[in-house]
Amino acid sequence: MLAGGPPQSVAAYPENDRDFHAVKKDKWAERKACFIVPKCLYFPLSPNADFCHFAGIRFAMYVLFVPPFGGGKEILMKIAILNGSPRIENTAAMVNAFSEGAKEAGHEVEILHVGRMKIGGCLGCEYCHGKGGGQCVQKDDMEKVMPSYKEADMIVYASPIYYFDVTAQLSAAMQRVYAIGKPAKAKKAALLLSSGSPNPYNGAIATYKDMLAYMGVENAGIFTAAGDENGSEAKLAEIRNFAKGL
Ligand SMILES: Cc1cc2nc3c(=O)[nH]c(=O)nc-3n(C[C@H](O)[C@H](O)[C@H](O)COP(=O)(O)O)c2cc1C
Repeated sequence: MLAGGPPQSVAAYPENDRDFHAVKKDKWAERKACFIVPKCLYFPLSPNADFCHFAGIRFAMYVLFVPPFGGGKEILMKIAILNGSPRIENTAAMVNAFSEGAKEAGHEVEILHVGRMKIGGCLGCEYCHGKGGGQCVQKDDMEKVMPSYKEADMIVYASPIYYFDVTAQLSAAMQRVYAIGKPAKAKKAALLLSSGSPNPYNGAIATYKDMLAYMGVENAGIFTAAGDENGSEAKLAEIRNFAKGL
């Protein structure tokens, strides 16, 4: 039933495609601008400027940061996608289609490959609600997921159905949010599910909907790809267009 051959090597599969910090740095890089000032003005600004000559006149060149007023690309939402698949195949295709559409619309997207992370199940010790002050007692890969979870305006849960539910890795990542109660900023969520047979989604969808109702987060959409729909251009276009319209 599993299409697409054996998993690719772990080393070839990045944990995080892009993190929100890196995106912030890019935004500042985009705001760099070069100024050219005639020689008579350069000295008070800086004696270390680079110089160029034009028509026999010496100019000083400065690279300055333009403050973030106007200009630059406006970021609409920060979207964290939790991909529960350990493989780079069918769920990954849905995730990539979503990511392409969302980026085209101006959103920032971070893909967290939780399917390849080591995330333990909740121990029920309540350390997080006591001494831990929102921190889990377990020091594992959930520490990589939590910052994005807290910062995201939208969270997308993506998973193959591995025996009638989302993967155990994604399930653990969803449940470990218990440590903070609710993601602080998230207003929207979506669910992407891939399967072999036509309708094994009841369990995954019920959990997702109950969790969103508790969190007060809106369900923006649920997309499923069964059997031959996996990787089909029609299905990927549907997901891409949905994300583009967010
Ligand atoms: C361990 C395992 C269990 C699976 N269980 C189901 C299942 O219960 N129902 C189903 O429709 N498909 C099942 N499948 C098929 C996968 O959901 C399907 O091949 C999916 O597209 C895999 O996505 P991926 O490429 O992201 O791993 C299972 C596959 C595996 C490997």
